[in-house]
Amino acid sequence: MKLKFARRLTASVLAIAAAAAPLGAAAPVAVNVDASRPGPKISRDIFGQFAEHLGTGIYDGIWVGPNSRIPNVRGIRADVVQALRALHVPNVRWPGGCFGDNYHWHNGIGPQAKRPATLNPDWGGVIEPNSFGTHEYFDFLGQIGSEAFISENVGSGTVQEAADWFEYMTSDKPSTLAKKRAANGHPAPYKVKYLGLGNENWGCGGAMSPDHYVEEMKLYARFTRNYNPVQNGEHAGDNAMKRVAVGWDSGDSDYTEAVMKAWKNKTWSWDIEGLSLHGYTVPNIWEKKGPSFSFGEDQYAKAIGKTLKMNEWVAKQSAIMDRYDPDKKIALFVDEWGIWTDPNPGSNPGFLQQQNTLRDAVLAALNLNIFMRHADRVRGTNIAQMINVLQAMILTDGPKMVLTPTYHVYRMYVPFQDATLVPVSFDAGTYRNGDVTVPRVDAIAARDAAGHLWLALTNVDPNEPARMLVSVPGVTAGSATGEVLTAPTVDSHNSFDRPNTVRPAPYRGSISNGRLRFDLPAKSIAVVRVD
Ligand code: AHR
Repeated sequence: MKLKFARRLTASVLAIAAAAAPLGAAAPVAVNVDASRPGPKISRDIFGQFAEHLGTGIYDGIWVGPNSRIPNVRGIRADVVQALRALHVPNVRWPGGCFGDNYHWHNGIGPQAKRPATLNPDWGGVIEPNSFGTHEYFDFLGQIGSEAFISENVGSGTVQEAADWFEYMTSDKPSTLAKKRAANGHPAPYKVKYLGLGNENWGCGGAMSPDHYVEEMKLYARFTRNYNPVQNGEHAGDNAMKRVAVGWDSGDSDYTEAVMKAWKNKTWSWDIEGLSLHGYTVPNIWEKKGPSFSFGEDQYAKAIGKTLKMNEWVAKQSAIMDRYDPDKKIALFVDEWGIWTDPNPGSNPGFLQQQNTLRDAVLAALNLNIFMRHADRVRGTNIAQMINVLQAMILTDGPKMVLTPTYHVYRMYVPFQDATLVPVSFDAGTYRNGDVTVPRVDAIAARDAAGHLWLALTNVDPNEPARMLVSVPGVTAGSATGEVLTAPTVDSHNSFDRPNTVRPAPYRGSISNGRLRFDLPAKSIAVVRVD
């Protein structure tokens, strides 16, 4: 499968051979890969996605309806499904976000013509037609080959409403709700791998104090039961549904402390398996975030500097969790992250539409590397958001679709899903711009289930190529081949008219004195398999 990635790329693609890159003044970076000391498993759920009822993320982006001129399967657009299948998306968090705490599931089941039109108060106050509901969500998951992460309504719903939803989705016994599901077209119970116990209840989810949230969360954790007998039900052992409570955001909330303290002293009747962290990269300030395209090196550098805060956020949250849970039973789920810029000029500001550039691809790689380095605690993340919203994989406009630079990083990183982290050490050097100083390069390694060693190398420097000399003691490397992603400028992006400005090209390292030599173009990401 992995080899196919490289083969599929045609010779007409701009080939950037490592040896061809001119070298700047910076010294080569020696990278030591310690293949004898395997690290933790990198959960595939680190590569999860987030799809909220927000702007055109669901409607137009995924759902066009069965009568649309846009090719679709049961209302779900075929081009988007085909593109997403290549990402092996492990899970899709839905229906929100802030929308989740406004969502009432019973509006989204039954015959389409009878579904009520409600409002989407947080995101532009537009009509929510409820055409994409529970059954359509699971149909979409089935089409792209992914799993469910359902965020339930703790803000404006009730414990009973949430319990009923999960009985409706997961019961195999002929309860009235399960029979209703069957009557609506799905006799078999659905599989729900993850349950989100609310969303940002310190903010849009009700501005609850930590203690108030903990009391609510315990009720939802207790009464939202997964009845699916063989898949993610309560008796499914390691496969049992994982409940993710709301934790700290990148600000000053002390939810993590309160939730972990309650968990440490919990009774038998409730439990959680995960805690969330939300952390967005805002290049400038919240009120004036900065453009998503047409920017220069200063905006690039600021965004890179800001995004590396993710390492601090994860480390800080992990340290709190370690105090209550040294065995790391509770997973950290960074279930919203990504770059948040000003909306596209002329777009509805409530729709959070932004372009996606080479900068965002570099930023995605750096964040994925951070998450993988913390794989012992970080066992899930969801980039915000999948289509047409914030740092999207895919942009659509009517029948048109384009893949973003971030999409390409996710596709190149597929081999890291469920691989085993391999420690690497290197002196990254520095890249400076104005008052921003960040590491010049990044590197991560992992071994997949078939035993292949994979490297992901990033050159953050937008001006100078970087030479990386990789040693793998005990391994005689014959070749290192894969792909590289770069483009003319940091704000290069793909548009409907020019969809291939930023796309991967074949790439290979060379062998030099027993080491692998990689000459990375400026502002680039390479993923290679070492054979
Ligand atoms: O992703 C957009 C919004 O950001 C989500 O709805 C919310 O949870 C967060 O504040």
